[in-house]
Amino acid sequence: MKILVVGGAGYIGSLMVVRLLQDDVEVTTLDNLSAGYRDAVLGGNFIEGDLANTDLLDKVFSENKFDAVMHFASFIEVGESIISPAKYYLNNVTNTQNLLDAMVKHGVLNFIFSSTAAIFGEPEYVPIDEKHTMVPINPYGRTKLIVEQMLADYDRAYGLKSVALRYFNAAGADPETRIGERHVPESHLIPLVLQAASGRRGSISIFGQDYDTPDGTCIRDYIHICDLCEAHLLAIKALQSSNKSAAYNLGNGNGFSVKEVIDTAKKVTGRDIPVVVTKCRIGDPARLVADAELAKKELSWEPAFSSLETIIRHAWLWEEKLGALKS
Ligand code: UFG
Repeated sequence: MKILVVGGAGYIGSLMVVRLLQDDVEVTTLDNLSAGYRDAVLGGNFIEGDLANTDLLDKVFSENKFDAVMHFASFIEVGESIISPAKYYLNNVTNTQNLLDAMVKHGVLNFIFSSTAAIFGEPEYVPIDEKHTMVPINPYGRTKLIVEQMLADYDRAYGLKSVALRYFNAAGADPETRIGERHVPESHLIPLVLQAASGRRGSISIFGQDYDTPDGTCIRDYIHICDLCEAHLLAIKALQSSNKSAAYNLGNGNGFSVKEVIDTAKKVTGRDIPVVVTKCRIGDPARLVADAELAKKELSWEPAFSSLETIIRHAWLWEEKLGALKS
């Protein structure tokens, strides 16, 4: 099998490349290195390039006969998407359309898309299953939903088959500590908590503690990136055997509060973690937890690293490595 991984130099894409290589898949990474790192691509072919460059896409697809494409190359910051929606519509929608058009033109008709829990908006109930209404409350979520809708249209009109995987809170790192989160700026809870533990940051802010949850802080469903990558592999295999498009919510089905994350991080690291309580972040729902039963049933997917402790332990090993590299 020959797969193009777009965004294969990023946090999740780079682990996907490793996982595919383990399965003897021939991998080509296409990444513009705007948020990814060349040294995170641990094998296969690498092409530096942008999805805005349709000539390049034409060339890449002319020179390679891919069986499928996995697309990880999106902007992911909710806050930034509110301030700079044009940047998000251009990259997450227009550039994705360029990719889909190149695929259709060259007859590559299997696509795995990194979608997000943000397509659901404010939850009407939890855990959130695939039947939940989709009313995103920020441009980031809207760009992802637009692509999911585009995929349904491209399936009907051009026979492009896809699986959209809606990640809840992607977290953790490669258990062998080769790959982990390196967002600049970092905005995600677990790496920030661990930076506070390692001393690379003075403290961690808790964004509000008056939510309607047992300890008053927001609850999220943290899912290990290895488990996400496994789901991609199962999705591509299912797509190739069924030739049927689908969408799945991916999480552990367990919610942990911000305070529980910090307490677990204290236990895992053995460090004190200075905490400051600040005001709520706009647009943060109190609870986001996935119902991933459909993925379990249809893809035979089962998270292997579902404990929060394991997720944080892997992320901590990565944070220690990053800290050592930077000092
Ligand atoms: N949080 C803090 N302090 C911080 C950072 C985060 O208290 O310094 C809290 C947030 O308020 C939230 C939780 O920790 O309650 C998790 O926040 P993250 O920023 O790590 O993740 P989000 O839940 O906001 O975002 C995730 C994905 C997004 C996706 C979103 C769907 O990373 O891509 O879920 O709502 F859009």
